[in-house]
Amino acid sequence: MPVTLEHISFSYSPQGSGTAWALRAVNIAIQPGEFVALAGRAGSGKSTLVQLLTGLLPPTGGRLTIDGVDPFATRQPHLFDQIGLVFQYPEHQLFSATVYADVAFGPRQQLRGRAPDDALVRQRVDWAMSAVGLDLTSWADRHPLELSGGEKRRVAIAGVLALRPRLLILDEPTAGLDARGRRTLFDLLHRLNREEGVTILLVSHRPEEMLAHASRLLVLDAGTVAGDGAPQQLLADAPFATACGLEQPDCLRLAERLAAEGLPMPERPWDPAAVAAQVLTRCGAGRAQP
Ligand SMILES: Nc1ncnc2c1ncn2[C@@H]1O[C@H](COP(=O)(O)OP(=O)(O)O)[C@@H](O)[C@H]1O
Ligand SMILES: [Mg+2]
Repeated sequence: MPVTLEHISFSYSPQGSGTAWALRAVNIAIQPGEFVALAGRAGSGKSTLVQLLTGLLPPTGGRLTIDGVDPFATRQPHLFDQIGLVFQYPEHQLFSATVYADVAFGPRQQLRGRAPDDALVRQRVDWAMSAVGLDLTSWADRHPLELSGGEKRRVAIAGVLALRPRLLILDEPTAGLDARGRRTLFDLLHRLNREEGVTILLVSHRPEEMLAHASRLLVLDAGTVAGDGAPQQLLADAPFATACGLEQPDCLRLAERLAAEGLPMPERPWDPAAVAAQVLTRCGAGRAQP
């Protein structure tokens, strides 16, 4: 299910002469099965873009297509059912009296009139809960507000997964999670991506996340697409990264520091193991020499 944005613009207040554009002339095509990161400084338009992709905001100009069809021009809003959005701090959106009711809310709406009984809804809830690592029988009747922060977030994500999206968009999903919570979340995203073929679009401001998980990085700057390419390539371009407000990955900063001290790395290292391997090679070679 390819999703395209063609010359998309968006303004929160399009009337009048001094229109402020949150997005301008945005062209993006996301192909099925991709794992894409979306970055850019605060206010660059990331959240606006994801709300356009999920049909929550209609474009002010330009055309959006899902599987080649424009859901607005053809009046087929149900096409957006294939796109799920996990908001930043999704746990704030829990509102039902039980975990089951919360996760079942989406599929119940989506399947209304199509499912003669609750069996299909239950199947969806069961699958979504086990995808986030929560066993339905022990969690179904708990009150969402009794759960820990991490558990709440898993329930909220299960609520989106229960819609069985083909494209899953997550707006800064690791904000406020500890290292273990982040690992669990990325394990889940990769499982969905690899095993279920779910396309992932991840809004992130952590360069390490982009490098470790995404095969493509989209960078927004002042509402336009400033970069679209391999995360390694874009993040290694220091003037570009600085201009777009992106942080440099720690490993690159370490490599630059070592180079400044006379120990240049033959290759750009992207994770701590790569820095260590190159340093050890250099030092090992140094020891071996008489
Ligand atoms: N609800 C809103 N009403 C008016 N302007 C908004 C609203 N939400 C965002 N904006 C403006 O739109 C621009 C893009 O914001 P946003 O998409 O939230 O960026 P990001 O998610 O990258 O921080 C900013 O200038 C922001 O102030
Ligand atoms: Mg945002």
